[in-house]
Amino acid sequence: MMKIAVNAIPPERAKSDLLAIPAFEDKDLFQKMVNNLKKLAGVYPPQIGAKVFSGKKGQTLLVHSTVHPKQFLLVVGMGKRSDLTQEQLRRMGALATSCARSVRAKTVACLEPDTGQVETPETGVTFPPEEIAQTIVEGALLAAYRYDKYQTQNPEEKFTPTGFALIGSTRSRVPRLIQGAKLAHILCNAVYLVRDLANAPGNEITPDALARHARAAGRGSGVAVTVLNERRIARLGMGGLLGVAQGSACPPRFIIMDYKPRTTTRHVPTIVLVGKGVTFDSGGISIKPSANMAEMKMDMSGAAAVIGTVQAVAKLALPIHLVGLIPATENLPGGRALKPGDILKHLNGMTSEIDNTDAEGRLILADALVYAARYSPDLVIDLATLTGAVVVALGHVATGMLGTAQHAMRQVEEAGLRTYERVWQLPLFEEYERLIKSDVADVKNTGGRWAGAITGALFLKKFTGTYPWVHLDIAGTAITEEATEYTAKGGSGVGVRLLVDLLRHWKNY
Ligand code: BES
Ligand code: MN
Ligand code: ZN
Repeated sequence: MMKIAVNAIPPERAKSDLLAIPAFEDKDLFQKMVNNLKKLAGVYPPQIGAKVFSGKKGQTLLVHSTVHPKQFLLVVGMGKRSDLTQEQLRRMGALATSCARSVRAKTVACLEPDTGQVETPETGVTFPPEEIAQTIVEGALLAAYRYDKYQTQNPEEKFTPTGFALIGSTRSRVPRLIQGAKLAHILCNAVYLVRDLANAPGNEITPDALARHARAAGRGSGVAVTVLNERRIARLGMGGLLGVAQGSACPPRFIIMDYKPRTTTRHVPTIVLVGKGVTFDSGGISIKPSANMAEMKMDMSGAAAVIGTVQAVAKLALPIHLVGLIPATENLPGGRALKPGDILKHLNGMTSEIDNTDAEGRLILADALVYAARYSPDLVIDLATLTGAVVVALGHVATGMLGTAQHAMRQVEEAGLRTYERVWQLPLFEEYERLIKSDVADVKNTGGRWAGAITGALFLKKFTGTYPWVHLDIAGTAITEEATEYTAKGGSGVGVRLLVDLLRHWKNY
């Protein structure tokens, strides 16, 4: 990961190979930027005279400095200052590192934009320096990520910038900017871990390997990690997790991560995160078509997000009791595999009829959701790449959200707007319930063609008991098919920034 620095040196003293300069469209601000740019570049870029570059959103201008001949200047159009959003700051940071990659600039610096007293449409509040630094550094670090550890040839193709400096507009702002940069560093470290776990092939990340990564993430950040093996899973009676694992030669694991703040006298809320940890989903006997099946190595993205979130929360020492629960297994069609028509008994004694072995996520999550009740939680959130149906409904832009705790869902929604890991709520109307009625068991694991994201969530709801519960179906948002501003193709690392933001702002009711 790039090294991050914050300072307030005069921009002309910045020695970085690339210097990013924000440009607002507003007349006076634009003129100020141009005067600054002339000094830094030693020339007057003709694109500005010709109004090719006017600071509009989406415009960029790359200039060679004649003052520091090895330096590139990247002017980033920011639009009107009154329209500024946090996401735009993230994208500015991202542009700086993406551009550095393409011009092979090793070190990057970025000038803090003069945000004035702008209200953001996302939150309706002004930009504190912490948030300016957090978002710019987030964008820079997220855009710098690549998964290339298995690419052993042509190391020169693996160019990546090594350092990123944020240049504050005044010395007095630096301490607060540092706070935000530190937060971004912890968050992005966790996002990198989530992306690495998702992008790693299924032959590397088996259920046991996932458990070892959870242990490693917990170590050093003061998180107690317990891993239950197949025998203990069987003895507990987690029939869903055992049933799905039957078809694989790799035994399942049930991972428990438990973080408590070190010293606190006051009562803290207990929140449980549950992550779907299917390390490869072939569909089982109801096997998937082979096109794109490789993507299903990422069917543990919910689990990875839980591991990353617990790690980040522990590093930030947030005043909450946070538990991460991960049922981990492969879904393969081995000789002893689960079959359509089979009936399983879950941890709470409820039975489920297997209609389709490819609806495996809900079977393993059911046991974990029952287990979650042991903590008498104030809130349970599960993250799962649960249904293709949610991708049909929302595409890759928004995570599907369903649940029983409206007050919590409102807070998740706000965290989604702040982090731009946006969620969109779908209903759990009781009329859908008849779709998962079984003739032979308590519930059936599929609901037919319609409303698949909803029937998946309704299946889970049957195992949630009395605690407030939010389900996040990340099937569309965890897997990036086409690279975006700061997300490369592959695992997106969705969930960490959303949940840490939620937990930092969490109001228990
Ligand atoms: N892991 C898949 C869902 C998925 C699909 C994740 C696409 C990411 C991208 C899940 O286990 C699954 O196979 N769901 C089935 C459920 C159906 C059989 C009721 C689906 O969505 O087709
Ligand atoms: Mn499946
Ligand atoms: Zn799956």
